[in-house]
This record gives sequence, C-alpha cells and structure tokens, in this order.
Amino acid sequence: MELREICIPIKDEVSTMESVLSEHLQSRIPFVQGVVDYVIQNGGKRLRPILTILCAKLTGYQGQASQGLGAAIEFMHTATLLHDDVIDNAGLRRGRTTTNSKWGNHVSVLVGDFFYCKAMDILVAQGDLKILKVITDAITTTTEGEILEITKSNDPGTTENDYLQIITSKTAVLISAACQTGAILSRVSEEYEHSLRRFGLNLGIAFQLMDDVLDYTSTEEEFGKINGTDLKEGKLTLPLILTLKKCSESEAQIIKNTLLADEIAAESFRQVLEIINQYEGIRDTLLLAKSYIQRAKDNLSLFKPSLEKETLCALADYVVCRKN
Ligand code: IPE
Ligand code: IPE
Ligand code: MG
Ligand code: MG
Repeated sequence: MELREICIPIKDEVSTMESVLSEHLQSRIPFVQGVVDYVIQNGGKRLRPILTILCAKLTGYQGQASQGLGAAIEFMHTATLLHDDVIDNAGLRRGRTTTNSKWGNHVSVLVGDFFYCKAMDILVAQGDLKILKVITDAITTTTEGEILEITKSNDPGTTENDYLQIITSKTAVLISAACQTGAILSRVSEEYEHSLRRFGLNLGIAFQLMDDVLDYTSTEEEFGKINGTDLKEGKLTLPLILTLKKCSESEAQIIKNTLLADEIAAESFRQVLEIINQYEGIRDTLLLAKSYIQRAKDNLSLFKPSLEKETLCALADYVVCRKN
C-alpha cells in the first residue's frame, strides 16, 4: 500500500501538522526564508510526525498537541538531513538538488541549526519536560551515530554489530522517540509507553536497513536520491558487510578498491553489485529488515485491536516495501 493510502485515517491531523510546519518557519531574513521554504516544501514522507500522531491516538490522546510535537520532530529530522547531506556530499534529496549543492555547505549547516531551534521553540512552548528530555537524548544519540559512522568510513573491518550500532543511533532512536513521545502525551502507563518506544526502535532499524538496500537497488527517479552514494562515500552498509564475510580474496579486493576510489564508474558499481548479489547481500539485508518489522509488530501486542493499531502495522509493512 502507498503511504498516502495508509494514512487516510489520520489525514486531517496530518494536514494540520503540515500547517504547523509552515506557520513555525518564519524568518526575518528573506534569504533564510527562501532556503527554508525550499527545504520543507519539497516533499518528504513525514514518517516521524505520522508515527507521533498515530501513537498518541492509539494511546487515547484526543488533543491537538501531537500535531505540534510531530512538526517539531520533523524539524529535528530535517536538520539532521541538512547536516547529513554535507557530511555525505550528497547532490540530490527528495528528487531535488540539495541545499549544500545549491547554496553551499555553510548555508546547509546554518539552516540545519535554524531548524533545530524552530523545533525547540515548539517544544519549549508545549512545556513538557519529559518529552523535551526524550527528544534531546534522541538527537544526542543521532549525532553520535553520524560521528560513529564517520569513524568507520572506508574500514572494511566494520562488523555487523558496528553497523547495527550506527543505524540504531543515527536513525532508529529518533523514530523511536517520535513514537514514545506520542504515548507520553496521553499519560499512559510506562508499560505502554515503552512498548511504543521499542516499536519505533525496531521499525527505525528496519527503515535504515531498507534505505541501505535502496541505495544499491533503486533508481534515482523513484528514490529521489542518487544511488551508490554509500559506496562512493566509503560507507560500509550491511549488504557489503555480509558480502565481505563470504566472498573470495580477489572479490574482496575489488570491493575495497571501489570503496577507496574517489569516483566510481558505472561499470565498477555494477561489478560490486554483482558480487553483492552473488552472495545474497541484498536478500539477507531485506530478510533482516523484515525480522525487525516482525519484532516491531510484536511490540504492539499489549494494545487491543483498533484502527490505529492496524494503521501502525500497515506502516510497518510499508517500511520494507517502500521505493523511496
Ligand atoms: C532519510 O529519512 C534519512 C534516513 C533516516 C534514511 P526519510 O526517508 O524519512 O526522509 P524524508 O523526510 O522522507 O525525505
Ligand atoms: C540517515 O543518514 C541518518 C541521518 C540523516 C541522521 P543516511 O546518510 O544513511 O541517509 P540518506 O541516504 O542520506 O537519506
Ligand atoms: Mg546521507
Ligand atoms: Mg549519512
């Protein structure tokens, strides 16, 4: 199912959340306003606010704060993307030229900071210190994950455990916080709150595993990002880590040479992907992603059947069959 279809039950809340996004992004400096509008209005799946709204509803929340909270988390996410595209030297995001390519790294870094502050603005106005703490901790961990990934760049000795630590930190913890804070709004017991935290964590791990598969298998048109970026930037993701464990010395050498190269010709990329497929690196990464999705669904077992629970399960399935 398409994401839009899955979200029909919360379409009104999502559209209010979109208005909150625009309302909170005012800058007195026209140049800043132009960049900010470019960044926020060029799509994005809004996965994290969708999760916040759904988890709040699932746990019985009936107020409006989940939309603002979701918007704040989307701003935090946007800030991480602006910084990540500088780190990864990325040229395309959401099907459009990245901010760093269009205006330079300095603008991308500072507009990223602007987004962090706008997020804090909303959270401070809401005044829930428990939520503020969960989100602040999540962003600290995201930053650590991004740094950990840098320290492991070009290192063919990167293990599956290193990789899982990186993706849990850089991606899953914020998705987990999006779910947990939705539950905190409803003041449910810790048991329910932590079930949703774990649901988000497992979903987030699967989400990044899928992203790393798409980096090898997708087309630019569908993915909205340039594929092969991980290999080009020396990022060892799971398809490659699993392959390096199984392939021959000479095949490993081909992979290592490609990882270290500054530019990768289409032919070299094709050759590495062929080796990965020969050792089922893509298939096994997808299998692992699906196992995390199963764990995520199991984390919902405490909750009675409801439309929100069904929607969260559909969202979980979507994560591992998405094309962008
Ligand atoms: C991209 O996240 C960064 C990752 C964690 C892989 P999304 O795929 O949610 O990005 P947008 O917001 O939809 O563009
Ligand atoms: C995703 O990083 C995590 C963060 C942005 C913090 P990636 O580098 O793997 O994601 P994409 O592929 O650029 O979206
Ligand atoms: Mg990136
Ligand atoms: Mg990155």
